[in-house]
Amino acid sequence: MAYLEIEGLGKRFGETDVLHDVNLSLEQGQILSVIGPSGEGKTTFLRCLNFLETPDRGIIRLKGETLFDATRVRARGQKPTKRAFGLVFQAFHLFPQYTVLENVMLAPTLAKRGTKAELREKALDLIEKVGLREKANSYPITLSGGQQQRAAIARALAMEPDVLCFDEPTSALDPLLTKEVLNVIRLLRTEGRTMIVVTHEMAFAREASDQVAFLSGGTVAELGTPQEIFEAPRTEALQRFLRQ
Ligand SMILES: Nc1ncnc2c1ncn2[C@@H]1O[C@H](COP(=O)(O)OP(=O)(O)OP(=O)(O)O)[C@@H](O)[C@H]1O
Ligand SMILES: [Mg+2]
Repeated sequence: MAYLEIEGLGKRFGETDVLHDVNLSLEQGQILSVIGPSGEGKTTFLRCLNFLETPDRGIIRLKGETLFDATRVRARGQKPTKRAFGLVFQAFHLFPQYTVLENVMLAPTLAKRGTKAELREKALDLIEKVGLREKANSYPITLSGGQQQRAAIARALAMEPDVLCFDEPTSALDPLLTKEVLNVIRLLRTEGRTMIVVTHEMAFAREASDQVAFLSGGTVAELGTPQEIFEAPRTEALQRFLRQ
């Protein structure tokens, strides 16, 4: 049994079948990179895992526990409540009216995860980890894009997700800032965090992931090690995608 198991995941928007029959499994501490052309459902996939969208089909299991089962949700009209996943967005989405520290503390404070002093200390540790100690009391507007994204990573970590997801975390950044953010993800990898990274950074996917999924036509068209995906792509669609 894998740490994370996704079986037959599907999502429709009206008549559009955006995702169908997505099957993936991930071991603890692994990084899965998800690559693929624009509009093929990568963001929708992450939103489904984070229950920002409710999948219409499929099962999501973590550590053997069923977090989501579409047939049961339909029967009971329930959404899962457990915060097993965290999500870092392409456009950071920090709360502009709060400092970095306040952004990081907000969700655990609302969830009553500890005393104010405990949560503050934990938040400062995370801010330090992403290299923003001197910016803890700054507002997002005064930070570079890379700094904002690193603050967003600290904020996602504050809820202690079992699986941390990233949606093209560097696509709004120039190369230097991209490097800062990817280095934070590499650091998290050395700590054994389980992560799913939707990315256009092929060099990063190749070097830092354990598995790479190529999403095309709304499903996992190819899945393999970085070596298999980048050096021996089997499908015409992936070969075409990699040539671009
Ligand atoms: N809330 C929604 N309502 C209707 N259609 C949607 C919704 N969200 C996404 N879609 C459609 O689902 C498809 C997949 O979108 P998605 O954003 O998941 O693609 P993506 O692979 O992340 O693309 P990109 O690489 O451009 O970010 C698109 O055709 C999009 O228009
Ligand atoms: Mg997207």
